[in-house]
Amino acid sequence: MGLRVRELHKVFSHGDGDVALFGGLSFELAPGGSLALTGPSGSGKTTLLRLLAALETPTAGEIWVNDVRVDRLSGEAARDFRLRNIGFVYQEHRLLPQMTALENVALPGIAAGEECTERSQHLLEIVGLAGKANHFPEQLSGGERQRVAVARALVMCPALVLADEPTGQLDAARATVLLELLQKLNQEQRVSIVMATHSQRARSYMREQINLG
Ligand SMILES: Nc1ncnc2c1ncn2[C@@H]1O[C@H](COP(=O)(O)OP(=O)(O)O)[C@@H](O)[C@H]1O
Ligand SMILES: [Mg+2]
Repeated sequence: MGLRVRELHKVFSHGDGDVALFGGLSFELAPGGSLALTGPSGSGKTTLLRLLAALETPTAGEIWVNDVRVDRLSGEAARDFRLRNIGFVYQEHRLLPQMTALENVALPGIAAGEECTERSQHLLEIVGLAGKANHFPEQLSGGERQRVAVARALVMCPALVLADEPTGQLDAARATVLLELLQKLNQEQRVSIVMATHSQRARSYMREQINLG
């Protein structure tokens, strides 16, 4: 997966004036690359991840994922692009409480009409939770839930994983486990990763860095 951003601007209009983000930001991420997005709260980290996932459209500029012009996608095409190409890990895991870990991981596959129980099981092994496949989110620790969320993000074999402050709710030891996992996925499975973080330590796990601040 190659990612290319050209001359990016996003303006949000508020009652008391506009918020202008990115100032014509351009960057590229080679297939298999890893990138930390840093910057203070309000600098646009979450907005940039949402733009890359076609959850939001820019005011100006271009976003390419391989040969797809992501900023031009909307509706069904945007949903399909997301499902096939992007894995999203949120700051809070956003697992469905009434489903087991295994069912949560398999959910994107079900949305795509694909049977992926076996792959989901395998992903739970990769994230170190093979023994907890039938646990519900409330029966897991915060770090375990976040690792289930990583497995869910990977179930459709996305070329690009977007993670929005994925260690924000974790203590240092659990954050390290999660960061090592993301690094391993990047290095061994060549999944490209863009991770928003304001942790100095977290950003050292990614090879490149853009500061939006
Ligand atoms: N949907 C929205 N409507 C209006 N303003 C928004 C919206 N989303 C984000 N913003 C504004 O854009 C700025 C950047 O927000 P965000 O991307 O969440 O930053 P970060 O993730 O770095 O904290 C903030 O000033 C925020 O208020
Ligand atoms: Mg944010």
